[in-house]
Amino acid sequence: MSNEIHAVGLDIGTSRIRCVIGEPAPDGRMNIVGLGESESKGLRRGVVTSTEAVAESIRRAVAEAERVSGVEIESATVNLSGEHLQGENKNGVVAVAGPDKEITDEDVDRAIDSASAMPLTPGWEIVSRLPQEFIVDGQDGITEPIGMNGSRLEALVHVVTSPSAARQNLIKAVTKAGLDVENLVLEPLAASESVLTDDDKEYGCAVVNMGAEITSLMIFGRGAVQHSSVFPFGSMLFTKDIATGLRVSIPEANKIKHHYGCVASFLLDEEEKQELIEIVPFGRSETRGLSKEILCDIMQPRAVELVQHVASAVSKAKAQISGGVFLTGGGSLVYGLAEIAEQVFDAPTRVGMLDPAFFGGLADEAHGPQWATACGLGLRSMKFQIRSEAGGKSSARKVAEWFGNFRDKFR
Ligand SMILES: Nc1ncnc2c1ncn2[C@@H]1O[C@H](COP(=O)(O)OP(=O)(O)OP(=O)(O)O)[C@@H](O)[C@H]1O
Ligand SMILES: [Mg+2]
Repeated sequence: MSNEIHAVGLDIGTSRIRCVIGEPAPDGRMNIVGLGESESKGLRRGVVTSTEAVAESIRRAVAEAERVSGVEIESATVNLSGEHLQGENKNGVVAVAGPDKEITDEDVDRAIDSASAMPLTPGWEIVSRLPQEFIVDGQDGITEPIGMNGSRLEALVHVVTSPSAARQNLIKAVTKAGLDVENLVLEPLAASESVLTDDDKEYGCAVVNMGAEITSLMIFGRGAVQHSSVFPFGSMLFTKDIATGLRVSIPEANKIKHHYGCVASFLLDEEEKQELIEIVPFGRSETRGLSKEILCDIMQPRAVELVQHVASAVSKAKAQISGGVFLTGGGSLVYGLAEIAEQVFDAPTRVGMLDPAFFGGLADEAHGPQWATACGLGLRSMKFQIRSEAGGKSSARKVAEWFGNFRDKFR
């Protein structure tokens, strides 16, 4: 595998910016060679509000990753996120064009174009088209139609739309930081790349990525994305509840959440419940004691409420998630969230850690769920560069086979 490939994943979040640099390993995994992280400024609920502030935060995260890896980077695959993203399932039908009725790349492209030909609100655009399956002359469940024979080709596609300005401002911020945008990938899709296996996607599962200010849901089934939605809330709500409930500053509330927070009281035994933690009330210098039970009483109802919102979207989507729920994003580090989510979803739930089958090198440094998006973006970047090296669109088939997944071509 070429050593010229330097895959770069850049996760631009409302609270943190993370950069991962990787190289292809001979066994097909991505060796992580550099990681960098910085505090993020200039975003609100995943949308850029100040390009200069975001650019500055990007520069700091990138500089750290470059220092660790000794590699200078020029471009990155970046996450697309934001509270306005909207996903819906569409279908489109075309007649197979060639005289021998053998389905070609062009037929598939036309079918996908036809599925995504939809009226858009002014100022909005399609940001992602994710093929679910193809139907050839009534035969459904086809994932690799190219080369098959038939006369009627139908594509089922999950289409995601967003205000154009959100994408343009994101690109501006990255460009200002001195990088080219190689590709934009939906945040939960990137996170899923790091933690889901093909079997998980096949049997049906949900990825819930909880960040600071937004939470995104992506449901997979039959190997493809069946649903996506974004909620305008994240782990920052716990911080705000703690600040209000205990009359402490936001930084102090964040510290309390990280070190002592718990959203599932049944995980604490009697002794732990009574354990006192020292907190510094707002504007004071002396501390006071607070039991962990009271902290849990503040956080647990909010956790249940947030997870119920997501669970109701899952049931509205009428999706099968027998493969379980995977929690990613820094928000999933709150102690007890997976246990509460398991009860609310009534499905096996766990915090999504990087799958060791996909990552080597410094993977241990990035094993937490807060790194899932950046690492998934890195994987995407690596696949993209290998595809480009293999000769672009004309070799798309060859590369799709290399990855064992035709759908990669369209993401
Ligand atoms: N150890 C921890 N315990 C509890 N919460 C944590 C922990 N570490 C991080 N968090 C919380 O996770 C959130 C940040 O998660 P993440 O870095 O995934 O968000 P982001 O990508 O910056 O934001 P967004 O995706 O909403 O734009 C913050 O609210 C932070 O307080
Ligand atoms: Mg995020």
